Amino acid sequence: MAHFLTGSSSPASACPHHRESHRQHAVVQCGTSLSTPRISEPEASPAESSACIQGGMAPLVQALQSTASQDVACFHFPGHNRGKAAPSSLSKLIGPGAFLHDLPELPELDDLFSPNGVILDAQKRAAQLFGSSKTWFLVNGTTCGIQASVMATCSPGDYLIVPRNCHISVISALVLSGAVPKYIIPEYSSAWDIAGGITPLQVDEAVKELEEDGKRVGAVLVTSPTYHGVCSNVQGIVSVCHPRGIPVIVDEAHGAHFRFHDSFPSTAIEQGADLAVQSTHKVLCSLTQSSMLHTAGDLVNVDQVSQCLQVLQSSSPSYLLLSSLDAARYHLSKNTNIFDEPLAIASETKDQL
Ligand SMILES: Cc1ncc(COP(=O)(O)O)c(C=O)c1O
Repeated sequence: MAHFLTGSSSPASACPHHRESHRQHAVVQCGTSLSTPRISEPEASPAESSACIQGGMAPLVQALQSTASQDVACFHFPGHNRGKAAPSSLSKLIGPGAFLHDLPELPELDDLFSPNGVILDAQKRAAQLFGSSKTWFLVNGTTCGIQASVMATCSPGDYLIVPRNCHISVISALVLSGAVPKYIIPEYSSAWDIAGGITPLQVDEAVKELEEDGKRVGAVLVTSPTYHGVCSNVQGIVSVCHPRGIPVIVDEAHGAHFRFHDSFPSTAIEQGADLAVQSTHKVLCSLTQSSMLHTAGDLVNVDQVSQCLQVLQSSSPSYLLLSSLDAARYHLSKNTNIFDEPLAIASETKDQL
């Protein structure tokens, strides 16, 4: 039963020459040295040190801050030159700081498609907080996380079992992967006049039907919660799928906050999902378009997911978006009671209605 809330292919790599040329010398220190300055870790205040123990610092935010504060002449993108050539109308509107920190993939800022520095560190800290084995930062919303998840699990001609009221990104994922949809009609709530979730029984019937016809099921995709807040029994769906080796992808765009209060439902990853995509920008506090893709278990090939993300995302990812994910993660790790007040207000409002 769905319940209400209370509260695949190997794409080509980006051209290495192109990437190298823009990563190579890009900044010249205005002092005497011509070498690219290294980041020095700022000293942590006592409050920050205690946060560091609880949930860690924000490595990407710190690296961005450190790089932006260097006294250097810049010979890199973007052309607004750390705000010096920014259109004044926008600079006045959003402030010069936004331009100053709008930096490209400089060596000390790591590489989203092959992270081994501050991005990797920030993603690992996010994985720890969100309870996944690996987390990818996304700069093209949950949309690209869903597309990559389907592409990494379904080969052309495979079936994707999916609720009929899925988000449009699932439809584009079908187009991109060549997977064939097997639709499940979600439960309908006459009390609320909205579509609900899908059940383990519905998934079991869909899998059996396809297997009897000799079809291969690439994955099952569940939207949980829906836009209206209806959750499906992800754990039950996982127990139908995993014995058959079928991965479960959860569109958790509207459930990025579930991990942060006991009265919220369990997260998809906690319930055993293989891939869960969350719009950190929708229900948490990162910038619009920034999301996270989490994985757990060993049913999904993580390298394939990384390769698909490389096809779907810009080779010039915005560090404002990336660092906003790191900042949101840090903020949540520091403020463990962040949802107490909104929940109390929501409950009070509900009582008064
Ligand atoms: C259920 C659902 N899934 C996925 C998405 C796509 O999320 P994003 O805007 O982060 O790409 C949305 C967006 O509204 C959504 O409502």
